[in-house]
Amino acid sequence: MNDIGTTTFHDVKQYSPKSPSRQLSSKYKSYYQADLPTISMISVKDALKNQILSLDIDMCEPDAENAFFVANLDEVYNQHFRWKSLLPRIEPFYAVKCNPDPLLLRLLASLGTGFDCASKVEIQTILDIGVDPSKIIYANPCKQASFVRYAAEHNVKMMTFDNSDELYKIKRYFPDAQLVLRILTDDTMSLCKLGLKFGASLDSTEALLQTARKLDLNVIGVSFHVGSGCYDENAFIDAVHRARFVFDQASELGFNLHLLDVGGGFSHSRNCDGITFEKIAAILGPEIDSLFPPNVRVIAEPGRYYAAPAFTIATHIIARRTVLSNGDVQTLDMDTVLNDETQTRDDHSGYMCKCY
Ligand SMILES: Cc1ncc(COP(=O)(O)O)c(C=O)c1O
Repeated sequence: MNDIGTTTFHDVKQYSPKSPSRQLSSKYKSYYQADLPTISMISVKDALKNQILSLDIDMCEPDAENAFFVANLDEVYNQHFRWKSLLPRIEPFYAVKCNPDPLLLRLLASLGTGFDCASKVEIQTILDIGVDPSKIIYANPCKQASFVRYAAEHNVKMMTFDNSDELYKIKRYFPDAQLVLRILTDDTMSLCKLGLKFGASLDSTEALLQTARKLDLNVIGVSFHVGSGCYDENAFIDAVHRARFVFDQASELGFNLHLLDVGGGFSHSRNCDGITFEKIAAILGPEIDSLFPPNVRVIAEPGRYYAAPAFTIATHIIARRTVLSNGDVQTLDMDTVLNDETQTRDDHSGYMCKCY
């Protein structure tokens, strides 16, 4: 975390990732600990340009032309304070799966966020940077038994479930876990519908809570995810009402729930024509206050909200083919595909930059 402290938040870092997140391996740990990306005091545009110009297309090693990111850590910092000022009651637990970049994780840890981890590797990564286990939620409702044991060994107590198999598994390997029941929401207003994978429907929650009671497990709260790329802020309102329903159901069964996890799906956009974080916060904050007393701790699992505005990717165009709507194939002129702003067309004509 000190690494972050020695830089200003206007820094930009640039690097070529050596290990794509989907290929996490035993090298993952050393990547996080020893091979931190370069930090530079230059603009994103200059960082992109420098990296592209440093490439000798005739002589470079295989892989040197790989896509690379430039991240502006200033954006992460801004997003955090935007969150704290508009949703002060809700503690962000960054969803590591969204982008496990080591500097991003360290910066967020230094800002005091918690972390949503979906696997053993993610938990290990977060513990390795010095985060307390109480700041981690294991937010995967279907876990491998060995991963539940790993969580128990490392005192990562908060974890989600949405099915009874999971309850029996947790009873066997981690009976002291603090369980959060993930419920299904209406994700029709989202681009990525996570309800296809996870979430207990409201007609199954009572039976699940009864099973948890029978097994003497410690259910502490309810979580949901409205889906990634949510474009209607009212989805959050519908979801918190569903959560309230399950809180009441649990109370009738003798549980005293005190954690609400409102998941991810938060827009990072500032474009008022569409959904913005401001629009979500304006209705979500007051709705939570009206439905849940102050003793209920409220957390969230934002991913893209933090990562998307900070990261710019440059990809190498290695071939071009345009398929027209009538099925004809046409090759585009280079001028049509190049981004003029990179001003690299003479020497490095294959790159196009896309900023998110
Ligand atoms: C359980 C869980 N939490 C949080 C997130 C992050 O969602 P978003 O990036 O939309 O904020 C995801 C994304 O897939 C998820 O599956």
